Amino acid sequence: MVETVRELPVIDDVALGAMFDDPYPTYARLRREAPVAWLKPANIALITTFDDIIAIEKDDTTFPANDPRSLMFRSMGHTLMRRDGEDHMTERRALVKTFSPPMIKSHWAPKFEDFVEEQIAHLRTKGGGDLFAEYCAPIASRALAEVIGIPEVSWQDMLWWSQALIDATGNYADLPEPWARCAQANEGIDAAIDHHAEYWRRAPNPSALSAMLQAGFPMEKIRANIKVAIGGGMNEPRDAIATMIVALLENPDQCAAWRADPGLRRKAFEEAVRWVAPIGLYPRKVARDTVLSDTLLPAGTAIGLVAGSACRDERKFGPDAGRYDLHRPQAPHLAFGSGPHFCLGAWMARMLVGDMAVPALFENLPDLRLDPDHPPRWGGWVFRGPLSVPALWGI
Ligand code: HEM
Repeated sequence: MVETVRELPVIDDVALGAMFDDPYPTYARLRREAPVAWLKPANIALITTFDDIIAIEKDDTTFPANDPRSLMFRSMGHTLMRRDGEDHMTERRALVKTFSPPMIKSHWAPKFEDFVEEQIAHLRTKGGGDLFAEYCAPIASRALAEVIGIPEVSWQDMLWWSQALIDATGNYADLPEPWARCAQANEGIDAAIDHHAEYWRRAPNPSALSAMLQAGFPMEKIRANIKVAIGGGMNEPRDAIATMIVALLENPDQCAAWRADPGLRRKAFEEAVRWVAPIGLYPRKVARDTVLSDTLLPAGTAIGLVAGSACRDERKFGPDAGRYDLHRPQAPHLAFGSGPHFCLGAWMARMLVGDMAVPALFENLPDLRLDPDHPPRWGGWVFRGPLSVPALWGI
C-alpha cells in the first residue's frame, strides 16, 4: 500500500487571543484533523500528539533544539535549552548536582520549608485573598532565587523579571512592548548575577550560579542559563501550585482522598501538571525534510511541541483526558518534556509543590475553599496556568 504524504496544512482561522483564553478545543481539533499543522498567526508548525512529540525528542539530529530564530535567543541569550549534543550535555552536567534529589532534600528543602511557613503565617493574618499572588508566586520566586544563587533578590523582582522573559519568549506576535520590558529585566538580572558571583567566587555553595562559576563557564553562558532558569523555573512551579490547589478544591472527593493518604501526594502533583501543563509549548527546528503523521515537514520549519495538547491526548490518557483525576492509571506525561532536555528542575518542583507548598496550605488553613463570587481565572497557551485563585479560609 502506498502511503499518501500531505502538504503541511495551514491553520488560519484561530486567533491567538482565543488560544490564550482556552487552547484546548483547538488542540482537540488539531489532534483529530491535523496533528502536524502550520499555525499561521504564530508562524510555527504545531505538533499536538503525544507519540509525535516522543518521536521528535528521540531524534535531536533531525529535530535540534538549537534554532537561532528561537525567540529565546533574543530574550535570554544562548541557553543550554537551545543547545544540542555534547555542547548541551557539558552545560547540563555542571548543573545536575544542584538539582539532584539528594541535594534538594538535604540542602534546599529546609529553606523551602521556611518560605512555605512564612507565607502561611502571612495568610493566617486574614480570612481570604488571592492565593496565586499571595502564596504561589512568593514561594516559587524565593525558592528559585536560592537555588540558582541570587538569594538577595526580592521575590517581587524575580516575579517581574520572569514574566518579562516569558512574555518576550512567547511573543510570537512580535509586539514591541514585551521586548522593551525584557531588555529592562536583562539589565536587572545581569546586575544581580555580578553582585552574587562575588560571594560564590570567595565561598562556593551548591547553587547553579556557583556551580557554573566553579566549572569555569564564560559569563555569557552563565547569564543565559540563569535567565532560562528564571524564565523557566519560577512561573512553572507557581502555576503548578495554583493549578493543584484549584484541582483539589474543585474536586472535593479527590481532595478528601489526597488528604487522607500522603501516598497520593506524588500522583496528585503529576496529575495536576498533566491536566494543565505549565509549559504549553516548547520549540524545535526541522533540520531535513521529514514526514510526521503523514505530513511533510520541510527542512527549516520552526516547530512547537505542544506539551499542553500531548498531555490531553485521548489516545494516551483516555476520552476524559480533560478532567483532573488523581486516580487515573499512572502513565508518563510530557509536562516536563522528555529526552535530553528533560526538565532539570523536575525534582525541585515535585518536592516544593507536591510535597510541601500544597499539603502545608491545606493542613494549616481550616475550611479552605474557592471564593464562590470570584472563580479562578486561567490564561495562556505557550505558558498556561491560573491568573488568580481567589479563596476564603477560617482564621
Ligand atoms: C512544574 C514545574 C516545571 C515544569 C512544568 C517545567 C517544564 C519544563 C519543560 C517542558 C522543559 C523542556 C523544555 C525543552 O525541551 O525545550 C524544561 C526544561 C528545563 N527546566 Fe523546567 N519545568 C519546571 C520547573 C523547573 C524548575 C523549578 C527549574 C529550576 C531552575 C527548571 C529548570 C529547567 C531547565 C534548566 C531546563 C532545561 C534543561 C535542558 O535543556 O537540559 N524547571 N522544564
